[in-house]
Amino acid sequence: MRGKKKAAVRPKTEAELAKMRVSCAKLGEVHARLKEMIRPGISTAEIDEAGERFIREAGGEPNFKNYQGYPAAICVSVNDEVVHGIPKRDRILEEGDIVSLDCGLVYDGFHSDAARTWGVGEVHPNAAALIAHTRESFFAGIRYAVAGGHLHDISNGIAAYLQPYGYGIVRDLTGHGIGRALHEEPVIPNYRMPVFNRGILLEPGMTLAVEPMVTLGTWRVYWEDDGWTVRTDDGAPAAHYENTIAIRPEGECEILTLMPGEEADGSGAV
Ligand code: MF3
Ligand code: CO
Repeated sequence: MRGKKKAAVRPKTEAELAKMRVSCAKLGEVHARLKEMIRPGISTAEIDEAGERFIREAGGEPNFKNYQGYPAAICVSVNDEVVHGIPKRDRILEEGDIVSLDCGLVYDGFHSDAARTWGVGEVHPNAAALIAHTRESFFAGIRYAVAGGHLHDISNGIAAYLQPYGYGIVRDLTGHGIGRALHEEPVIPNYRMPVFNRGILLEPGMTLAVEPMVTLGTWRVYWEDDGWTVRTDDGAPAAHYENTIAIRPEGECEILTLMPGEEADGSGAV
């Protein structure tokens, strides 16, 4: 067919975006409260229970809970666990661990999704660098999250930022569209994509969850027998950083799930 190709991904209306903003702002506050809980001696189950309480206090529902059978409100992934770690009462955080908290909620029909990785007490400098660079790769990628750009410009922006460090960039999981469902089209790779596949054209109102998963070793991962926990093949630590964003008609995208005080230039509450 000739003429303009219709987008497979329906952008949100301004009214829908307004609801996304509310859902996402609540999630940013939940993450800020979760950050305060990270300390040696706490169990990953305690973090999950607190997170579920924070979500409900904000008037939201935990959208991860029972998602395809996922048994908790939050994914808590320690060290070589990349994502989707199931919280456990006997999994106790220790000084030097790095822990990623992936959390989402649904409010007024709209989903939000964000992840942060924190060091527990004093961590190895390489682990601290991994956390910082994973976060920075997100911001490097979303410079390309502009109307008229192409989806894989974001992927390539992330990969280009990380490339000099020699990290592994996980390929088995991706970012995604988000809105009335937790996972919508499109699939968003966080790794380098070939030039002959630029991805969809980005349009104002598209809401996306961009979420680089980065390791101190290989990009290869495996699923634990619990069917959820994703670990690095080589046991190297991994970090994860994710925000829900919105493409704007002009200029930079809007980052919807920042924690209060968290700034895109690296200052603030991180
Ligand atoms: N943020 C996670 C993702 O986009 C959501 C995981 S769903 C859960 O993959 F069921 F694992 F919680
Ligand atoms: Co996500």
